[in-house]
Amino acid sequence: MSSFFESFGRPTGALKVVAVNGSPSFPSKTNALVEEIIARLGEQVSVESVIINVGDLVPFFGASFADPSTPVGVALAQIAEADLLIAASPIYKGSYTGLFKHVFDVLPPAALADKPVLLVATGGSERHTLALEHQFRPLFGFFQADTLPLAIYGHDSEFENYLVTGEGLSSRIDRAVARALPFVSADAREASLHPVI
Ligand SMILES: Cc1cc2nc3c(=O)[nH]c(=O)nc-3n(C[C@H](O)[C@H](O)[C@H](O)COP(=O)(O)O)c2cc1C
Repeated sequence: MSSFFESFGRPTGALKVVAVNGSPSFPSKTNALVEEIIARLGEQVSVESVIINVGDLVPFFGASFADPSTPVGVALAQIAEADLLIAASPIYKGSYTGLFKHVFDVLPPAALADKPVLLVATGGSERHTLALEHQFRPLFGFFQADTLPLAIYGHDSEFENYLVTGEGLSSRIDRAVARALPFVSADAREASLHPVI
């Protein structure tokens, strides 16, 4: 009998993780958080990953985004092919950055249908944590994506030298990764359906 994930075409090999980091800056705390999340995923399942730093795409935004040979076209194709999309941005003025939104503005509307999406943000303080729920999540509702229930927010004091150092953030990453795995990994789904007692 085929498994739940085989029926729905979910991955059984290395998990293709594609992250979009909406920061215009580098180094970037958001990039550091994304790298840490991918590393934690990699401790649990086999992962192939790419991080799209949107700041790198800025010189190319004027070109035809439908052309798959342009850097923006390549990024859009990678996003569409991901098994798991990590949608990450610094908080600017209470929301994701304009650059982050621009990537999704030029993404075809059906590209994320039923795709698991882990929402991630960094901010100067804890004050804007809920921007993940009232700004990020509705954007992926437009795309009919499967946003994962638990998002990850890190604030400035949880980083040092562009590395995740906060214990609270570290444990929130572990919790979100554990919650995400059954949605994206056949092995993790099997384990959660048949827990060892
Ligand atoms: C233009 C600008 C606007 C910002 N607006 C907010 C904000 O509304 N709320 C907040 O918590 N942090 C805000 N910040 C702080 C950044 O979100 C925070 O430092 C973030 O971790 C930077 O991420 P990065 O290092 O990946 O660029 C703002 C920073 C800048 C430069």
